[in-house]
Amino acid sequence: MDTGVIGWGFYVPDEVRTNKDLEKIVDTSDEWITTRTGIKERRIAPPEMAVSDMGVKAAKKALKKAGLTPFDIDLIIVATITPDMFFPSTACFVQAKLKARNIACFDVSAACSGFIYALKVAKGLIESGSYRNALVIGAEKLTAITDWQDRNTCVLFGDGAGAVVLGPVKKGGIKSVYLGADGSKSELLNMPGGGSRNPATHETVNQGMHYVKMKGNELFKFAVRLMAESAYKALRKAGLDKTDIKYLIPHQANSRIIWATARKLDLEKKQIFVNIHKYGNMSSASCAVALCESLSSKGVKKGDNLLLVAFGGGLTWGASVIEVS
Ligand code: UT7
Repeated sequence: MDTGVIGWGFYVPDEVRTNKDLEKIVDTSDEWITTRTGIKERRIAPPEMAVSDMGVKAAKKALKKAGLTPFDIDLIIVATITPDMFFPSTACFVQAKLKARNIACFDVSAACSGFIYALKVAKGLIESGSYRNALVIGAEKLTAITDWQDRNTCVLFGDGAGAVVLGPVKKGGIKSVYLGADGSKSELLNMPGGGSRNPATHETVNQGMHYVKMKGNELFKFAVRLMAESAYKALRKAGLDKTDIKYLIPHQANSRIIWATARKLDLEKKQIFVNIHKYGNMSSASCAVALCESLSSKGVKKGDNLLLVAFGGGLTWGASVIEVS
């Protein structure tokens, strides 16, 4: 038996914040945000909603689609960089809210590549014989770590969650996962405050160290190169060629990065899944939500090969070929 996606579902909060809304907060314009990023609007979770709450909403849909109950789940992994708390893990909160059994629960932190990292971990644990059905969630409340006075970052991010149930499939499933990282470039994208390096103090808060810091321009060049390289490596691992790919499901950081990746892979426009205009960059949740939306779209059929690819803080990157089961 192979391991495949047997259920999926996503959740985004109701509140929509448009580029026009942001024009009232910082010195920006709908025109700048649209042309430089492709983003038109993003979703904002209310103050009382944490990442586990969004993850649970997505997970319930995924379980329903799989025809399973929380009792059938053997493992929960949440990919996130905005956990409910430092500890316990957000996966533990999800388990409690779902009333799942006392199964293994933990988080994966790999920024925007987190969902693909989590897929690899879950696939490995399932195929080692340890577990049968895993719930893998990519969920973020990035607006909670966004500096709403910094126009370089606040126009980019949004909140949401995507969940898949992984389980045994007769044919297809996750054919390959390729992962990589380069910790020497951590200064390009991080949140410096609150950890053991800079524990939270009045000083760190006054300096805004609890917000995302990004050197967007430098990241951009790495993103384009590493997304394409990762895609090729995942294809090679799967023994496939780019002509075998039906749809590219890229991390949604910037539409210019998405189109540049598509060009490097020689894929046609209609093969590229884009939802950045609706949700912005949701880090670990971006690929998760995009995968769920694409699986629910009319164009995607059993036997199609989907190519997921992501890049983010760490730096981290990764790609996966999934044949729709
Ligand atoms: O998700 C994980 C990984 N993330 C990424 O890979 C993000 C990669 N980077 C990017 O997507 C892009 O670099 C950004 C969208 C973040 C920025 O776009 P850019 O074309 O690289 O712009 P820039 O940072 O080079 O800034 C160009 C100009 C600057 O003004 P000056 O110095 O040329 O006068 C910025 O101050 O645009 C200005 N600017 C803005 N203007 C209006 C920056 N942000 C804004 C804004 N509205 N929101």
